Amino acid sequence: MKFLNSLSLLGLVIAGCEAMRNISSKELVKELTIGWSLGNTLDASCVETLNYSKDQTASETCWGNVKTTQELYYKLSDLGFNTFRIPTTWSGHFGDAPDYKISDVWMKRVHEVVDYALNTGGYAILNIHHETWNYAFQKNLESAKKILVAIWKQIAAEFGDYDEHLIFEGMNEPRKVGDPAEWTGGDQEGWNFVNEMNALFVKTIRATGGNNANRHLMIPTYAASVNDGSINNFKYPNGDDKVIVSLHSYSPYNFALNNGPGAISNFYDGNEIDWVMNTINSSFISKGIPVIIGEFVAMNRDNEDDRERWQEYYIKKATALGIPCVIWDNGYFEGEGERFGIIDRKSLNVIFPKLINGLMKGLGDEKPKTTIRRTTTTTVQVQPTINNECFSTRLGYSCCNGFDVLYTDNDGQWGVENGNWCGIKSSCGNNQRQCWSERLGYPCCQYTTNAEYTDNDGRWGVENGNWCGIY
Ligand SMILES: *[C@@H]1O[C@H](CO)[C@@H](O)[C@H](O)[C@H]1NC(C)=O
Ligand SMILES: *[C@@H]1O[C@H](CO)[C@@H](O)[C@H](O)[C@H]1NC(C)=O
Ligand SMILES: *[C@@H]1O[C@H](CO)[C@@H](O)[C@H](O)[C@H]1NC(C)=O
Repeated sequence: MKFLNSLSLLGLVIAGCEAMRNISSKELVKELTIGWSLGNTLDASCVETLNYSKDQTASETCWGNVKTTQELYYKLSDLGFNTFRIPTTWSGHFGDAPDYKISDVWMKRVHEVVDYALNTGGYAILNIHHETWNYAFQKNLESAKKILVAIWKQIAAEFGDYDEHLIFEGMNEPRKVGDPAEWTGGDQEGWNFVNEMNALFVKTIRATGGNNANRHLMIPTYAASVNDGSINNFKYPNGDDKVIVSLHSYSPYNFALNNGPGAISNFYDGNEIDWVMNTINSSFISKGIPVIIGEFVAMNRDNEDDRERWQEYYIKKATALGIPCVIWDNGYFEGEGERFGIIDRKSLNVIFPKLINGLMKGLGDEKPKTTIRRTTTTTVQVQPTINNECFSTRLGYSCCNGFDVLYTDNDGQWGVENGNWCGIKSSCGNNQRQCWSERLGYPCCQYTTNAEYTDNDGRWGVENGNWCGIY
Protein backbone atom coordinates (compact mmCIF):
# COMPACT_ATOMS: atom_id res chain seq x y z
CA MET A 1 0.00 0.00 0.00
CA LYS A 2 2.99 2.29 0.24
CA PHE A 3 2.87 3.48 -3.34
CA LEU A 4 -0.85 4.14 -3.10
CA ASN A 5 -0.30 6.50 -0.19
CA SER A 6 2.30 8.39 -2.13
CA LEU A 7 -0.01 8.55 -5.15
CA SER A 8 -2.76 10.14 -3.14
CA LEU A 9 -0.35 12.85 -1.99
CA LEU A 10 -0.31 14.10 -5.56
CA GLY A 11 -3.92 15.16 -4.95
CA LEU A 12 -4.86 15.43 -8.61
CA VAL A 13 -8.41 16.39 -9.49
CA ILE A 14 -9.99 13.76 -11.66
CA ALA A 15 -11.33 15.02 -14.96
CA GLY A 16 -14.98 14.17 -15.36
CA CYS A 17 -15.80 13.67 -11.70
CA GLU A 18 -18.68 15.84 -10.70
CA ALA A 19 -19.90 16.74 -7.31
CA MET A 20 -23.26 15.13 -6.72
CA ARG A 21 -25.85 16.49 -4.36
CA ASN A 22 -26.59 14.02 -1.59
CA ILE A 23 -30.38 14.23 -1.59
CA SER A 24 -32.91 11.46 -1.08
CA SER A 25 -35.09 10.25 -3.94
CA LYS A 26 -38.07 11.74 -2.11
CA GLU A 27 -36.44 15.14 -2.56
CA LEU A 28 -35.30 14.40 -6.09
CA VAL A 29 -38.77 13.52 -7.43
CA LYS A 30 -39.98 16.98 -6.41
CA GLU A 31 -37.71 18.36 -9.12
CA LEU A 32 -39.03 16.04 -11.85
CA THR A 33 -42.21 17.62 -13.00
CA ILE A 34 -43.30 16.15 -16.30
CA GLY A 35 -41.50 13.62 -18.46
CA TRP A 36 -41.33 12.38 -22.04
CA SER A 37 -40.23 8.95 -23.25
CA LEU A 38 -38.26 8.28 -26.43
CA GLY A 39 -40.47 5.30 -27.33
CA ASN A 40 -39.74 2.73 -30.06
CA THR A 41 -36.29 4.12 -30.79
CA LEU A 42 -33.24 2.99 -28.81
CA ASP A 43 -35.52 0.23 -27.50
CA ALA A 44 -36.40 -0.95 -31.03
CA SER A 45 -35.21 -4.49 -31.62
CA CYS A 46 -34.73 -6.06 -35.05
CA VAL A 47 -32.37 -8.96 -34.42
CA GLU A 48 -34.32 -11.07 -36.93
CA THR A 49 -34.04 -8.64 -39.81
CA LEU A 50 -30.90 -6.57 -39.23
CA ASN A 51 -27.28 -7.68 -39.19
CA TYR A 52 -26.12 -6.07 -35.96
CA SER A 53 -22.48 -6.98 -36.60
CA LYS A 54 -22.56 -4.88 -39.71
CA ASP A 55 -24.18 -1.83 -38.17
CA GLN A 56 -24.82 -1.51 -34.46
CA THR A 57 -26.75 1.74 -34.82
CA ALA A 58 -29.31 0.70 -37.46
CA SER A 59 -31.70 -0.57 -34.78
CA GLU A 60 -32.45 3.00 -33.66
CA THR A 61 -34.60 3.59 -36.76
CA CYS A 62 -35.74 0.02 -37.51
CA TRP A 63 -39.20 0.52 -36.00
CA GLY A 64 -39.81 3.54 -38.21
CA ASN A 65 -38.63 6.47 -36.14
CA VAL A 66 -36.00 8.96 -37.29
CA LYS A 67 -32.58 9.26 -35.76
CA THR A 68 -32.79 11.15 -32.49
CA THR A 69 -31.45 14.70 -32.40
CA GLN A 70 -30.37 17.30 -29.88
CA GLU A 71 -32.96 19.67 -31.38
CA LEU A 72 -35.77 17.29 -30.42
CA TYR A 73 -34.77 17.51 -26.77
CA TYR A 74 -34.42 21.28 -26.85
CA LYS A 75 -37.92 21.47 -28.34
CA LEU A 76 -39.33 19.19 -25.62
CA SER A 77 -37.61 21.29 -23.00
CA ASP A 78 -39.20 24.43 -24.50
CA LEU A 79 -42.58 22.71 -24.26
CA GLY A 80 -42.06 22.26 -20.52
CA PHE A 81 -40.72 18.70 -20.15
CA ASN A 82 -37.80 18.32 -17.76
CA THR A 83 -37.52 14.55 -17.42
CA PHE A 84 -36.51 12.28 -20.28
CA ARG A 85 -36.81 8.51 -20.17
CA ILE A 86 -34.58 6.77 -22.66
CA PRO A 87 -35.80 3.18 -23.08
CA THR A 88 -32.88 1.16 -24.40
CA THR A 89 -32.67 -2.43 -25.55
CA TRP A 90 -29.24 -4.02 -25.13
CA SER A 91 -30.03 -7.48 -26.54
CA GLY A 92 -28.32 -7.78 -29.91
CA HIS A 93 -25.73 -5.21 -28.86
CA PHE A 94 -23.71 -7.35 -26.45
CA GLY A 95 -21.46 -10.34 -26.89
CA ASP A 96 -21.28 -13.79 -25.37
CA ALA A 97 -20.77 -15.04 -21.83
CA PRO A 98 -19.00 -14.48 -19.55
CA ASP A 99 -18.31 -10.81 -20.37
CA TYR A 100 -21.46 -9.94 -22.31
CA LYS A 101 -19.40 -7.05 -23.68
CA ILE A 102 -21.59 -4.21 -24.98
CA SER A 103 -20.61 -2.90 -28.41
CA ASP A 104 -18.57 0.30 -28.08
CA VAL A 105 -20.46 1.78 -31.02
CA TRP A 106 -23.81 1.16 -29.36
CA MET A 107 -22.64 2.46 -26.00
CA LYS A 108 -21.38 5.62 -27.67
CA ARG A 109 -24.74 6.21 -29.36
CA VAL A 110 -26.69 5.68 -26.14
CA HIS A 111 -24.26 8.03 -24.41
CA GLU A 112 -24.88 10.70 -27.04
CA VAL A 113 -28.64 10.52 -26.61
CA VAL A 114 -28.33 10.65 -22.80
CA ASP A 115 -26.23 13.79 -23.28
CA TYR A 116 -28.87 15.31 -25.57
CA ALA A 117 -31.39 14.92 -22.77
CA LEU A 118 -29.07 16.21 -20.06
CA ASN A 119 -27.95 19.15 -22.19
CA THR A 120 -31.44 20.61 -21.67
CA GLY A 121 -30.64 21.02 -18.00
CA GLY A 122 -33.22 18.34 -17.13
CA TYR A 123 -33.08 14.73 -15.95
CA ALA A 124 -32.59 11.48 -17.85
CA ILE A 125 -33.73 7.95 -17.02
CA LEU A 126 -31.76 5.19 -18.71
CA ASN A 127 -32.97 1.60 -18.54
CA ILE A 128 -32.84 -1.86 -20.05
CA HIS A 129 -36.02 -2.37 -22.02
CA HIS A 130 -37.16 -5.10 -24.46
CA GLU A 131 -34.75 -7.76 -23.36
CA THR A 132 -35.40 -11.42 -24.05
CA TRP A 133 -33.15 -12.89 -21.35
CA ASN A 134 -35.04 -11.64 -18.32
CA TYR A 135 -38.46 -13.22 -18.76
CA ALA A 136 -39.54 -13.74 -15.17
CA PHE A 137 -39.40 -17.54 -14.95
CA GLN A 138 -37.45 -19.42 -12.29
CA LYS A 139 -35.58 -21.39 -14.96
CA ASN A 140 -34.14 -18.13 -16.35
CA LEU A 141 -33.15 -16.63 -13.03
CA GLU A 142 -29.53 -17.74 -12.72
CA SER A 143 -28.55 -16.79 -16.27
CA ALA A 144 -30.56 -13.56 -16.10
CA LYS A 145 -28.68 -12.55 -12.95
CA LYS A 146 -25.34 -12.99 -14.69
CA ILE A 147 -26.40 -10.87 -17.67
CA LEU A 148 -28.02 -8.21 -15.48
CA VAL A 149 -24.82 -7.76 -13.47
CA ALA A 150 -22.58 -7.73 -16.55
CA ILE A 151 -24.71 -5.23 -18.48
CA TRP A 152 -25.28 -2.86 -15.57
CA LYS A 153 -21.62 -2.87 -14.55
CA GLN A 154 -20.73 -1.65 -18.01
CA ILE A 155 -23.44 1.02 -18.09
CA ALA A 156 -22.54 2.13 -14.56
CA ALA A 157 -18.88 2.49 -15.53
CA GLU A 158 -19.77 4.44 -18.65
CA PHE A 159 -21.77 7.00 -16.66
CA GLY A 160 -20.04 6.66 -13.29
CA ASP A 161 -19.12 10.33 -13.14
CA TYR A 162 -22.59 11.67 -14.02
CA ASP A 163 -24.44 13.40 -11.22
CA GLU A 164 -27.98 13.05 -9.89
CA HIS A 165 -29.52 14.24 -13.16
CA LEU A 166 -29.01 10.73 -14.52
CA ILE A 167 -31.22 8.00 -13.06
CA PHE A 168 -30.89 4.28 -13.79
CA GLU A 169 -33.98 2.07 -14.10
CA GLY A 170 -33.07 -1.59 -13.57
CA MET A 171 -35.65 -3.25 -15.82
CA ASN A 172 -38.70 -2.21 -17.84
CA GLU A 173 -41.67 -4.56 -17.37
CA PRO A 174 -40.22 -7.85 -16.11
CA ARG A 175 -42.91 -10.49 -16.52
CA LYS A 176 -43.69 -14.06 -17.54
CA VAL A 177 -43.89 -13.46 -21.27
CA GLY A 178 -46.34 -15.84 -22.97
CA ASP A 179 -47.72 -17.16 -19.68
CA PRO A 180 -51.37 -16.75 -18.60
CA ALA A 181 -50.04 -14.66 -15.67
CA GLU A 182 -48.11 -12.32 -17.99
CA TRP A 183 -50.40 -9.32 -17.57
CA THR A 184 -52.50 -10.27 -14.56
CA GLY A 185 -50.14 -9.01 -11.88
CA GLY A 186 -47.99 -12.12 -11.73
CA ASP A 187 -47.66 -15.06 -9.38
CA GLN A 188 -45.17 -16.26 -6.78
CA GLU A 189 -42.63 -17.32 -9.39
CA GLY A 190 -42.78 -13.95 -11.16
CA TRP A 191 -42.69 -11.90 -7.93
CA ASN A 192 -39.67 -13.81 -6.64
CA PHE A 193 -37.87 -13.29 -9.92
CA VAL A 194 -38.52 -9.56 -9.99
CA ASN A 195 -37.61 -9.05 -6.31
CA GLU A 196 -34.34 -10.93 -6.66
CA MET A 197 -33.37 -9.10 -9.83
CA ASN A 198 -34.26 -5.71 -8.33
CA ALA A 199 -32.15 -6.36 -5.24
CA LEU A 200 -29.23 -7.52 -7.35
CA PHE A 201 -29.50 -4.45 -9.58
CA VAL A 202 -29.31 -2.09 -6.60
CA LYS A 203 -26.39 -4.01 -5.09
CA THR A 204 -24.52 -4.06 -8.41
CA ILE A 205 -24.83 -0.34 -9.05
CA ARG A 206 -23.89 0.59 -5.48
CA ALA A 207 -20.79 -1.62 -5.64
CA THR A 208 -19.43 0.21 -8.69
CA GLY A 209 -18.76 3.18 -6.42
CA GLY A 210 -18.10 6.77 -7.51
CA ASN A 211 -21.31 8.69 -8.03
CA ASN A 212 -23.11 5.39 -8.51
CA ALA A 213 -22.92 4.82 -4.77
CA ASN A 214 -25.40 7.71 -4.51
CA ARG A 215 -27.21 7.38 -7.84
CA HIS A 216 -31.00 7.43 -7.81
CA LEU A 217 -32.35 4.09 -9.01
CA MET A 218 -35.76 2.97 -10.20
CA ILE A 219 -37.07 -0.56 -9.71
CA PRO A 220 -40.36 -1.88 -11.12
CA THR A 221 -43.04 -4.07 -9.62
CA TYR A 222 -43.86 -7.22 -11.59
CA ALA A 223 -44.53 -5.94 -15.15
CA ALA A 224 -44.32 -2.42 -13.62
CA SER A 225 -48.04 -2.90 -13.13
CA VAL A 226 -50.32 -1.38 -10.55
CA ASN A 227 -52.54 -4.09 -9.14
CA ASP A 228 -52.96 -5.83 -5.82
CA GLY A 229 -50.80 -8.85 -6.66
CA SER A 230 -47.84 -6.99 -8.12
CA ILE A 231 -47.83 -4.32 -5.42
CA ASN A 232 -48.47 -6.44 -2.33
CA ASN A 233 -45.67 -8.81 -3.28
CA PHE A 234 -43.13 -6.16 -4.19
CA LYS A 235 -40.04 -5.78 -2.01
CA TYR A 236 -38.62 -2.30 -1.51
CA PRO A 237 -35.04 -2.36 -0.24
CA ASN A 238 -34.43 -1.16 3.30
CA GLY A 239 -31.82 1.40 4.26
CA ASP A 240 -31.31 3.04 0.86
CA ASP A 241 -33.00 6.40 0.46
CA LYS A 242 -32.18 6.64 -3.26
CA VAL A 243 -34.55 4.04 -4.69
CA ILE A 244 -37.75 4.94 -6.55
CA VAL A 245 -40.59 2.59 -7.46
CA SER A 246 -41.25 2.48 -11.19
CA LEU A 247 -44.88 1.98 -12.25
CA HIS A 248 -46.75 2.05 -15.55
CA SER A 249 -50.44 2.83 -15.85
CA TYR A 250 -52.29 3.29 -19.10
CA SER A 251 -55.55 4.06 -17.37
CA PRO A 252 -58.50 3.80 -17.88
CA TYR A 253 -57.57 0.77 -19.96
CA ASN A 254 -60.47 0.92 -22.43
CA PHE A 255 -59.80 4.58 -23.16
CA ALA A 256 -56.01 4.64 -23.03
CA LEU A 257 -54.71 1.34 -24.33
CA ASN A 258 -57.36 -1.15 -25.45
CA ASN A 259 -57.43 -1.56 -29.20
CA GLY A 260 -60.06 -4.33 -29.25
CA PRO A 261 -63.64 -4.92 -28.09
CA GLY A 262 -64.67 -2.55 -25.29
CA ALA A 263 -62.44 0.30 -26.47
CA ILE A 264 -63.95 3.77 -25.95
CA SER A 265 -62.99 7.21 -27.21
CA ASN A 266 -64.78 9.34 -24.59
CA PHE A 267 -63.30 10.15 -21.25
CA TYR A 268 -66.11 10.49 -18.73
CA ASP A 269 -65.13 8.30 -15.81
CA GLY A 270 -62.17 8.93 -13.52
CA ASN A 271 -62.84 5.95 -11.20
CA GLU A 272 -60.09 3.75 -12.58
CA ILE A 273 -57.50 6.52 -12.33
CA ASP A 274 -58.67 7.23 -8.79
CA TRP A 275 -58.22 3.58 -7.87
CA VAL A 276 -54.70 3.53 -9.33
CA MET A 277 -53.69 6.70 -7.50
CA ASN A 278 -55.23 5.63 -4.20
CA THR A 279 -53.49 2.27 -4.43
CA ILE A 280 -50.13 3.93 -5.10
CA ASN A 281 -50.75 6.31 -2.22
CA SER A 282 -51.64 3.68 0.33
CA SER A 283 -48.86 1.28 -0.70
CA PHE A 284 -46.01 3.71 -1.30
CA ILE A 285 -46.49 7.46 -1.01
CA SER A 286 -48.13 7.45 2.41
CA LYS A 287 -45.24 5.27 3.62
CA GLY A 288 -42.65 7.74 2.36
CA ILE A 289 -41.64 5.66 -0.69
CA PRO A 290 -41.15 7.74 -3.85
CA VAL A 291 -42.77 6.71 -7.13
CA ILE A 292 -42.39 7.68 -10.77
CA ILE A 293 -45.06 6.69 -13.27
CA GLY A 294 -42.59 5.87 -16.03
CA GLU A 295 -45.20 5.18 -18.70
CA PHE A 296 -48.68 6.45 -19.36
CA VAL A 297 -50.57 7.91 -22.34
CA ALA A 298 -53.89 7.48 -24.14
CA MET A 299 -53.90 6.54 -27.80
CA ASN A 300 -55.23 8.69 -30.60
CA ARG A 301 -58.85 7.83 -31.51
CA ASP A 302 -59.50 11.20 -33.20
CA ASN A 303 -60.53 12.38 -29.75
CA GLU A 304 -58.10 15.11 -28.85
CA ASP A 305 -60.56 17.02 -26.67
CA ASP A 306 -61.25 13.95 -24.58
CA ARG A 307 -57.57 13.22 -24.35
CA GLU A 308 -56.89 16.75 -23.17
CA ARG A 309 -59.44 16.37 -20.35
CA TRP A 310 -58.11 12.91 -19.48
CA GLN A 311 -54.55 14.21 -19.41
CA GLU A 312 -55.40 17.03 -17.06
CA TYR A 313 -57.35 14.71 -14.74
CA TYR A 314 -54.58 12.13 -14.60
CA ILE A 315 -51.77 14.59 -13.99
CA LYS A 316 -53.75 16.51 -11.38
CA LYS A 317 -54.23 13.32 -9.38
CA ALA A 318 -50.59 12.28 -9.69
CA THR A 319 -49.32 15.77 -8.88
CA ALA A 320 -51.40 15.84 -5.69
CA LEU A 321 -49.39 12.81 -4.58
CA GLY A 322 -46.03 14.18 -5.74
CA ILE A 323 -45.66 11.57 -8.49
CA PRO A 324 -43.87 12.67 -11.67
CA CYS A 325 -45.30 11.06 -14.83
CA VAL A 326 -43.45 10.27 -18.04
CA ILE A 327 -45.63 10.22 -21.15
CA TRP A 328 -44.97 7.46 -23.69
CA ASP A 329 -44.51 8.82 -27.23
CA ASN A 330 -43.73 6.11 -29.77
CA GLY A 331 -43.86 8.41 -32.81
CA TYR A 332 -46.92 6.67 -34.36
CA PHE A 333 -49.97 8.76 -35.21
CA GLU A 334 -52.11 6.61 -37.51
CA GLY A 335 -52.72 2.96 -38.34
CA GLU A 336 -54.01 -0.06 -36.48
CA GLY A 337 -51.39 -0.26 -33.74
CA GLU A 338 -50.64 1.84 -30.69
CA ARG A 339 -51.14 5.44 -31.83
CA PHE A 340 -49.13 7.14 -29.11
CA GLY A 341 -47.37 9.86 -31.11
CA ILE A 342 -47.40 13.43 -29.82
CA ILE A 343 -44.56 15.28 -31.54
CA ASP A 344 -43.33 14.77 -35.12
CA ARG A 345 -39.66 14.17 -34.50
CA LYS A 346 -38.64 15.21 -37.98
CA SER A 347 -40.36 18.58 -38.25
CA LEU A 348 -40.54 19.06 -34.45
CA ASN A 349 -44.20 20.04 -34.87
CA VAL A 350 -46.48 19.12 -32.00
CA ILE A 351 -49.25 17.10 -33.64
CA PHE A 352 -51.53 17.12 -30.57
CA PRO A 353 -50.97 20.45 -28.83
CA LYS A 354 -54.06 19.99 -26.67
CA LEU A 355 -52.40 17.01 -25.01
CA ILE A 356 -49.55 19.22 -23.93
CA ASN A 357 -52.10 21.80 -22.71
CA GLY A 358 -53.82 19.12 -20.67
CA LEU A 359 -50.54 18.06 -19.11
CA MET A 360 -49.58 21.57 -18.15
CA LYS A 361 -53.04 22.36 -16.77
CA GLY A 362 -52.84 19.21 -14.67
CA LEU A 363 -49.55 20.33 -13.22
CA GLY A 364 -51.09 23.61 -12.04
CA ASP A 365 -48.52 25.54 -10.06
CA GLU A 366 -46.04 22.68 -10.29
CA LYS A 367 -44.88 23.74 -13.73
CA PRO A 368 -41.23 23.08 -14.32
CA LYS A 369 -38.87 25.85 -13.43
CA THR A 370 -36.94 27.24 -16.34
CA THR A 371 -33.81 25.20 -16.72
CA ILE A 372 -30.46 26.54 -17.78
CA ARG A 373 -29.24 24.86 -20.87
CA ARG A 374 -26.10 24.70 -22.84
CA THR A 375 -26.47 27.09 -25.68
CA THR A 376 -24.18 25.99 -28.46
CA THR A 377 -23.64 22.68 -30.12
CA THR A 378 -19.93 23.43 -30.04
CA THR A 379 -19.89 22.78 -26.32
CA VAL A 380 -21.62 19.49 -26.97
CA GLN A 381 -18.81 18.45 -29.23
CA VAL A 382 -16.02 19.53 -26.94
CA GLN A 383 -17.55 17.77 -23.99
CA PRO A 384 -14.79 15.59 -22.56
CA THR A 385 -15.38 11.90 -22.83
CA ILE A 386 -13.44 9.68 -20.54
CA ASN A 387 -15.03 6.40 -21.54
CA ASN A 388 -11.95 4.79 -22.84
CA GLU A 389 -9.55 6.46 -20.52
CA CYS A 390 -9.04 6.56 -16.84
CA PHE A 391 -7.36 8.68 -14.23
CA SER A 392 -4.49 6.30 -13.62
CA THR A 393 -2.75 6.56 -16.98
CA ARG A 394 -1.28 9.94 -16.09
CA LEU A 395 0.07 8.33 -12.92
CA GLY A 396 1.75 5.59 -14.90
CA TYR A 397 -0.80 2.84 -14.31
CA SER A 398 -3.00 1.31 -16.98
CA CYS A 399 -6.81 1.23 -16.95
CA CYS A 400 -8.60 -1.85 -15.61
CA ASN A 401 -10.69 -3.87 -18.01
CA GLY A 402 -13.00 -4.86 -15.18
CA PHE A 403 -14.75 -2.92 -12.45
CA ASP A 404 -13.88 -4.70 -9.21
CA VAL A 405 -12.76 -2.04 -6.76
CA LEU A 406 -10.09 -3.05 -4.26
CA TYR A 407 -9.09 0.34 -2.97
CA THR A 408 -10.21 3.98 -3.26
CA ASP A 409 -8.07 7.01 -2.68
CA ASN A 410 -8.21 10.66 -3.68
CA ASP A 411 -7.23 9.81 -7.23
CA GLY A 412 -9.92 7.25 -7.92
CA GLN A 413 -10.77 3.61 -7.58
CA TRP A 414 -8.14 0.96 -7.98
CA GLY A 415 -8.32 -2.66 -8.99
CA VAL A 416 -5.70 -5.30 -9.60
CA GLU A 417 -5.32 -7.12 -12.90
CA ASN A 418 -2.50 -9.44 -13.91
CA GLY A 419 -0.75 -8.65 -10.66
CA ASN A 420 -0.64 -4.87 -11.22
CA TRP A 421 -2.69 -2.00 -9.85
CA CYS A 422 -4.95 -0.45 -12.48
CA GLY A 423 -7.42 2.44 -12.50
CA ILE A 424 -11.16 1.77 -12.76
CA LYS A 425 -12.69 3.65 -15.67
CA SER A 426 -14.94 6.62 -14.93
CA SER A 427 -14.26 6.39 -11.24
CA CYS A 428 -13.98 9.31 -8.86
CA GLY A 429 -11.70 9.77 -5.91
CA ASN A 430 -12.64 10.99 -2.46
CA ASN A 431 -11.58 14.51 -3.37
CA GLN A 432 -14.33 16.59 -4.90
CA ARG A 433 -13.83 20.25 -5.50
CA GLN A 434 -16.21 22.48 -3.61
CA CYS A 435 -17.00 26.10 -4.32
CA TRP A 436 -19.43 28.99 -4.26
CA SER A 437 -21.92 27.59 -6.78
CA GLU A 438 -23.00 24.74 -4.48
CA ARG A 439 -25.09 27.05 -2.33
CA LEU A 440 -27.00 27.90 -5.53
CA GLY A 441 -27.61 24.23 -6.25
CA TYR A 442 -24.89 23.81 -8.88
CA PRO A 443 -21.78 21.69 -8.56
CA CYS A 444 -18.31 23.06 -8.63
CA CYS A 445 -16.53 22.57 -11.96
CA GLN A 446 -14.11 19.71 -11.54
CA TYR A 447 -11.85 20.43 -14.47
CA THR A 448 -13.25 23.27 -16.60
CA THR A 449 -11.64 26.66 -16.31
CA ASN A 450 -13.17 28.33 -19.39
CA ALA A 451 -16.18 30.44 -18.56
CA GLU A 452 -19.21 30.04 -20.84
CA TYR A 453 -21.05 32.71 -18.95
CA THR A 454 -20.35 35.24 -16.19
CA ASP A 455 -22.86 36.83 -13.82
CA ASN A 456 -22.87 38.48 -10.39
CA ASP A 457 -22.36 35.14 -8.70
CA GLY A 458 -19.24 34.25 -10.58
CA ARG A 459 -17.92 32.50 -13.65
CA TRP A 460 -19.89 29.53 -14.99
CA GLY A 461 -18.60 26.59 -16.94
CA VAL A 462 -20.33 23.50 -18.36
CA GLU A 463 -19.50 19.92 -17.48
CA ASN A 464 -21.49 16.88 -18.53
CA GLY A 465 -24.39 19.02 -19.60
CA ASN A 466 -24.72 21.00 -16.38
CA TRP A 467 -23.69 24.45 -15.34
CA CYS A 468 -20.95 24.46 -12.76
CA GLY A 469 -19.14 27.16 -10.83
CA ILE A 470 -15.53 27.83 -11.72
CA TYR A 471 -13.38 27.47 -8.63
C1 LIG B 1 -25.97 11.27 2.41
O1 LIG B 1 -26.99 11.69 3.29
C2 LIG B 1 -27.44 10.65 4.13
C3 LIG B 1 -28.66 11.13 4.87
O2 LIG B 1 -28.59 12.48 5.20
C4 LIG B 1 -26.31 10.21 5.03
O3 LIG B 1 -26.73 9.17 5.89
C5 LIG B 1 -25.15 9.73 4.16
O4 LIG B 1 -24.04 9.39 4.96
C6 LIG B 1 -24.75 10.78 3.16
N1 LIG B 1 -23.80 10.19 2.23
C7 LIG B 1 -22.69 10.81 1.82
C8 LIG B 1 -21.85 10.08 0.84
O5 LIG B 1 -22.40 11.91 2.20
C1 LIG C 1 -23.11 -9.65 -40.92
O1 LIG C 1 -22.12 -8.65 -41.12
C2 LIG C 1 -20.80 -9.10 -40.87
C3 LIG C 1 -19.86 -7.89 -40.91
O2 LIG C 1 -20.08 -7.09 -42.04
C4 LIG C 1 -20.45 -10.16 -41.90
O3 LIG C 1 -19.14 -10.63 -41.68
C5 LIG C 1 -21.46 -11.31 -41.77
O4 LIG C 1 -21.23 -12.26 -42.78
C6 LIG C 1 -22.89 -10.80 -41.87
N1 LIG C 1 -23.82 -11.88 -41.55
C7 LIG C 1 -24.82 -12.22 -42.35
C8 LIG C 1 -25.68 -13.33 -41.86
O5 LIG C 1 -25.05 -11.65 -43.39
C1 LIG D 1 -52.71 9.69 0.75
O1 LIG D 1 -52.88 8.83 1.87
C2 LIG D 1 -52.80 9.51 3.12
C3 LIG D 1 -52.83 8.44 4.21
O2 LIG D 1 -53.95 7.64 4.09
C4 LIG D 1 -53.93 10.48 3.22
O3 LIG D 1 -53.87 11.19 4.44
C5 LIG D 1 -53.82 11.48 2.07
O4 LIG D 1 -54.93 12.37 2.08
C6 LIG D 1 -53.78 10.76 0.72
N1 LIG D 1 -53.49 11.72 -0.32
C7 LIG D 1 -54.30 11.96 -1.34
C8 LIG D 1 -53.91 13.05 -2.26
O5 LIG D 1 -55.31 11.31 -1.52
